[in-house]
Amino acid sequence: MIRRNRILRNSPAIRAMVAETILRPSDFIAPLFIIEGKGIKEEISSMPGYFRHSLDLTVQEVKELWGMGIKSVLLFIKCADELKDNKGTEALNPNGLMQRAIRAVKEAVPGMLVMTDVALDPFSSYGHDGIVEGEEIVNDATVNVLAAMSVSHAEAGADFVAPSDMMDGRILAIREALEDNNFTKTGIMAYSAKYASCFYGPFRDALDSAPGFGDKKTYQMDFSNAREALKETLMDVDEGADIVMVKPAMAYLDIIRLIKDSVTVPVSAYHVSGEYAMIKAAAKMGWINEEKAVIESLTSIKRAGADLIATYFAKDAVRLLNN
Ligand code: PBG
Repeated sequence: MIRRNRILRNSPAIRAMVAETILRPSDFIAPLFIIEGKGIKEEISSMPGYFRHSLDLTVQEVKELWGMGIKSVLLFIKCADELKDNKGTEALNPNGLMQRAIRAVKEAVPGMLVMTDVALDPFSSYGHDGIVEGEEIVNDATVNVLAAMSVSHAEAGADFVAPSDMMDGRILAIREALEDNNFTKTGIMAYSAKYASCFYGPFRDALDSAPGFGDKKTYQMDFSNAREALKETLMDVDEGADIVMVKPAMAYLDIIRLIKDSVTVPVSAYHVSGEYAMIKAAAKMGWINEEKAVIESLTSIKRAGADLIATYFAKDAVRLLNN
């Protein structure tokens, strides 16, 4: 034999030297679920070890994340039922929970990049990402609200808005609205290839945002399709997206790679709630080693081409990497 491949796997030292993919704290975006109240930390039943926090405890959490080297948080709020309607009224409230959360986080840790979810589902009496007419989720009226919502988040101090709704034309509308209002430093992280996925189940428990009727298949993508993901992503880049996203992550590693090879903007991937829950559940049963599953999963997402990973394991991963 002139080449023995096992030479490069012989010891921890050589494996470390030739490792192609290395996770680091600044790869991670930590999603945060925020609720009204004080001193509240509620575990999400389908996401063991993950919590909804009131604003005061959210601020503490953000300080801790920053101390660990995590540079970005993605904010989601749980809107009170009585504030939900079919127009996204509360989404535009300058003193809404989201807007207060943005201000509180930026005030407590100015360096932390604050990204905000832009979609109507938490605010919608129908639990849909857009305005509902009859059985239809109407596109253009929704886009107008999303653009106004983005401006409202920018006014509160968001560094990036992250539209997760999959309406057509929303990236351009948001970019124009930001420009028109002089928010020339606000970025857009577009959920460009967001699939209609069963893996969002636990998230909808977390925010009580499951669709009241039907499903999200007329706006989120069909998981049979790859070329369509490329079409969506290239359009978002043309419309002004600064970062594009693939979601979910692990069942879509081929899509992450395809997009990484096709665009020059950073690519993020969202390791979603159901992916978190599956690892937690199998570990609880004693069927897999949680720590190893976390690192292997996140490394595979990065290896597939993700520059950034939104994950509920952000804190755990940093702790594991430090050991
Ligand atoms: C809302 C939104 C969802 C997620 C992020 N933003 C749920 C959905 O589209 O139904 C899912 C995140 C997760 O499952 O971790 N537009």
